[in-house]
Amino acid sequence: ANEELHARISAVRAHFGPQLLLLGHHYQQDEVVELCDLRGDSYQLSQMAADSSACRHIAFCGVHFMAETADILANRPEKLSEREGQRVRVMLPDLAAGCSMADMAGIEQIEDAWDQLSAVIDTERLIPVTYINSAASLKAFVGRHGGIVCTSSNAKAAIDWAFSHANDGKGGDRVMFFPDQHLGRNTALGMGITNDQMPVWNPHAEELGGNTEAQLTDSKVILWRGHCSVHQMFKAEHVALFRKNHPGIKILVHPECPQEVFELADVSGSTGAIIKAVQAAPAGTKWAIGTELHLVNRLKQEHPEQEIHFLSPVMCMCATMYRIDLAHLCWTLENLAAGTPINTIEVDPETSRWSLVALERMLQVR
Ligand code: 13P
Ligand code: SF4
Repeated sequence: ANEELHARISAVRAHFGPQLLLLGHHYQQDEVVELCDLRGDSYQLSQMAADSSACRHIAFCGVHFMAETADILANRPEKLSEREGQRVRVMLPDLAAGCSMADMAGIEQIEDAWDQLSAVIDTERLIPVTYINSAASLKAFVGRHGGIVCTSSNAKAAIDWAFSHANDGKGGDRVMFFPDQHLGRNTALGMGITNDQMPVWNPHAEELGGNTEAQLTDSKVILWRGHCSVHQMFKAEHVALFRKNHPGIKILVHPECPQEVFELADVSGSTGAIIKAVQAAPAGTKWAIGTELHLVNRLKQEHPEQEIHFLSPVMCMCATMYRIDLAHLCWTLENLAAGTPINTIEVDPETSRWSLVALERMLQVR
C-alpha cells in the first residue's frame, strides 16, 4: 500500500514541480520525512517558509502552529508583492495535528492573566515572550505588546533581547514566558535568574495565577504553567540508571525536559542541535537521548557506529505529529491537484500582521 501511495504522491509532485514544497519536522515518521524536500527544527522550518520564493503550495508535515507560522511568513507583505499578490497555500495534511502544549495557553487565558497582572505590576515594562509552540492569536498578542517569539534554538537570545532591546530599546523589567514552563525555566536559570524569581502562572487558579502579589513584584520571569506531554516523561531516575549501567554514556536532551533532567544532561538543544551533536560525535559514542521517539529511532538507524538509547523506558512519541501519514499527505495533495484544495491553513490578516511583528524579531535574534 505504501508503494501505491508513493506513486500517487510522486505523480502530484511531478505535476507541480518546484511550485510544490514539502516541509517536514524532525519528529515526523520516517516514511513521511523521507519524502520531504526540506526538513528541520522549528526555527529552520520557519526560515525555509520565509525564504520560499518559487513555490506556490506548501504541504507542511508537522503540527498546526508550524503551518500557521509558515502561512504568516510565506505570505508576508514583501513576499506577496514579489509574487504580485499571489498567496502561497499552506496545507496541514491532518487538521487534527495540533500540539497539546500550545493548547495549554488560550488567548483568553493570556488576556485575563495580563489584566490581572496590570493591577500588580507595570505591564508596560513586562515583555511577553512566546515559544513558537503557540497559536497565531498568542503570537499576535505578543507582537502587539512589544514582545518576541522564540524557538528552542534561540530562547536565550530572545529573553536577552526582551531585557535589553525591547520597549523601544529601554529593555523590560521582567518577562512573561509562555506556554512551556520548562524551556522558560531552563533558559532563564542558565542566565543567572533563580527559581524564586520565577513564579509559575496557573491559568486555572482563582487569582493572580496562584501567586502572591510579592512573588509577582519580585519576579524576573513569570512562567506559564504549560509543558510538553512527551518531554515531561523523562525523569532524573532514567538519567541515573543510564549512568550506572552504561559508564561514559552522554545524556542528550531537548530543553522542553523538566529542570531536574535538563540539569543532569551533558548536552541539550533543539532537534536540529541534537542531530548535529550526534553527527559530530566519534564512532563508539554512547548516548541516551531525551526527545521524541521517531527522531531518536532515526538517529539510531543513521548512526550504527554509535550506541544510541532512548532515555525513557516508556516509549513516548508525539501523538499529534504521528497523525501525518502517507495516506493523509496523498489525500491532501491529490485534492490540490484536482483543484479542490483541502486542509488549508490561512491565518486572518490582522492576526498575521501582529504575529509577523513578533516572528520577524525571532528571525533576527540568534
Ligand atoms: P524544535 O524542533 O524546534 O526543537 O521543537 C521541538 C518540538 O517540540 C516541536 O514541537
Ligand atoms: Fe507539542 Fe510536545 Fe508534540 Fe512538540 S512534541 S508538537 S511540544 S506535544
